[in-house]
Amino acid sequence: MTVRVSPVLEGLATYPFVRLEEARRRIAARGVEILDFGMGEPREETPAFIRRALTAAVTPLSTYPAAVGLPELRAAVAAWVSTRFGAALDPDTEVIPTLGSKEAIYSLASVLEREYVAVPVPSYPVYERGGLFAGKKIIELPLTESNGWLPDLTGVDWDRVALLWLNYPNNPTGATAPLEFYEAAAELARHHGFVLASDEAYSEIYFGAPPQSALQLADRTNVLAFNTLSKRSSMPGYRSGFVAGDPQLIAALKRFRPNVGVAPQEFIQRAAVAAWSDERHVDDVRERYRAKRELLLEALPLRNAGGDASFFLWLEGDDELAARWLEQGVVVAPGSFFGAPGYVRLALVPTLESCAKAASLIGVQGGVQAGPAA
Ligand SMILES: Cc1ncc(COP(=O)(O)O)c(C=O)c1O
Repeated sequence: MTVRVSPVLEGLATYPFVRLEEARRRIAARGVEILDFGMGEPREETPAFIRRALTAAVTPLSTYPAAVGLPELRAAVAAWVSTRFGAALDPDTEVIPTLGSKEAIYSLASVLEREYVAVPVPSYPVYERGGLFAGKKIIELPLTESNGWLPDLTGVDWDRVALLWLNYPNNPTGATAPLEFYEAAAELARHHGFVLASDEAYSEIYFGAPPQSALQLADRTNVLAFNTLSKRSSMPGYRSGFVAGDPQLIAALKRFRPNVGVAPQEFIQRAAVAAWSDERHVDDVRERYRAKRELLLEALPLRNAGGDASFFLWLEGDDELAARWLEQGVVVAPGSFFGAPGYVRLALVPTLESCAKAASLIGVQGGVQAGPAA
């Protein structure tokens, strides 16, 4: 008999970025230079002092890492959260280092009872996929421009919900959330017994006021926040992040995670201590993204519909425009990939030089307008 894979896996639509990659290859084969603003993968160099911390930590003997992480890293994370957000965390009971944040985001639904996971639309697809593989049903909470890209939390049967995902600064819109919004969501979470999970992967990439964190809440009962070094320290390949918050939930994760094999390598954790302990390189990272953002916002003839954080530009535009840019070698993600047609997302990950090239190809000075092709 043939093996049947999970119906959830069977039912997953092809990740839209796979289709984009195919189109990208087709166009590159014609000799067109590709300027890729599609996937949000940082392509900045990891700072040298972090690379040095990694190599210095490679020892002759390599034992299994502990699932709870190194005490030094938990302490470095707690110190960073204290400086950045003014929130006091106990490193032993309120923080766990993770293998990047994706795996921890994916598996959270598996740790919780109840049938529903509430996810914003548009959003990072892992919230939904983690819910589906855990056997949950999904409640979609639309994010709209008129609501400032914040979900409406009324009209949901919260008593059947295991988990609500929020993500600010938001992928794909770049929007941020005020602390009062986290307060209202956390209050709801406590009242109805679900987890408020705040994905803060882009908290350090901002161009206005520093974004706030769910960790700043006076009462963090039922609240977890996820963060990562992938974006702030240009370390996507290291796979290093953390989850922090309610000690009871952290205790549950400490019981769950040794079963999964996601303990981060110790040499990576030592590099992570160096990364969380330095802010200068993060200022540099922010300035590089700022330069790209300003260049493209000025050059492109499209309205900025998004917020002022993350390394995404969320512009008014349609799939047809994205397809036309693609033919010119400029790859962007159409909003329809995220369930939000009418917008395009540019991940500001190519170099400043490539951004300038793109601006000259598709910007007003390049003579290419946002309107329909002639
Ligand atoms: C919104 C959001 N959250 C989390 C992640 C996961 O990042 P990592 O697993 O590298 O920490 C990403 C990565 O693109 C993201 O866009």
